[in-house]
Amino acid sequence: MNVMKTERLLLEPLDESRLEEFLALTADPDTMRYWAPGGPFPREVAERNFAASLVRLREHGFGRRWIVAKENGAGLGFTDTKYFGQSCDDVSPLEIGWMLTPAFWGRGYATEAARAVRDEAFARLKLNSIVAVHHPANAASGRIMEMLGMAFERDVVARNGWPSRLYRLTREQWASGR
Ligand SMILES: CC(C)(COP(=O)(O)OP(=O)(O)OC[C@H]1O[C@@H](n2cnc3c(N)ncnc32)[C@H](O)[C@@H]1OP(=O)(O)O)[C@@H](O)C(=O)NCCC(=O)NCCS
Repeated sequence: MNVMKTERLLLEPLDESRLEEFLALTADPDTMRYWAPGGPFPREVAERNFAASLVRLREHGFGRRWIVAKENGAGLGFTDTKYFGQSCDDVSPLEIGWMLTPAFWGRGYATEAARAVRDEAFARLKLNSIVAVHHPANAASGRIMEMLGMAFERDVVARNGWPSRLYRLTREQWASGR
């Protein structure tokens, strides 16, 4: 799997070296507020999640990417590309998602990274449509979906029991927005 580049960022396929950063990110109540009903991951849950995402990456040839600032090599957070069925009881195409360290919020990095994984889904993975979901109170994430050109489709209940707003972008919409 390739490293993707945007104006300010590298999006590197996840590797073992990011474990400590992932543990810190997912132990933070601010990043986890709208991520999981249980809040911050205990260490062993985060380790399981991390290991599973490494396996998925190898099996599928797509998946979690670490967001790295080109200017200084700092790790900023990650993007996810995964089967929607893993977070909600539905048969559907791939879901994209994002999480950044709070110190780097508000600078457009998440949107920049999200655009790249959106484009990867259509250009490299040849999908016909992608989805994304956010907790209704997670307005920043909903705003990113809008900026990606995604359209609200319906409310769903995620496997974790949370209400979620489902957005979709089709290949035709993606192509016409370019
Ligand atoms: C969601 C998240 C990635 C956003 O990061 P960010 O650095 O603020 O993202 P960006 O700077 O790229 O853009 C966010 C957009 O949302 C807007 N926004 C931020 N907070 C907002 C709020 N409370 N209400 C409405 N819009 C908001 C910003 O103004 C910006 O839009 P703009 O460019 O039109 O001004 C970050 O909050 C995060 O990592 N949260 C924890 C993990 C998470 O919840 N991930 C999403 C799961 S669905």
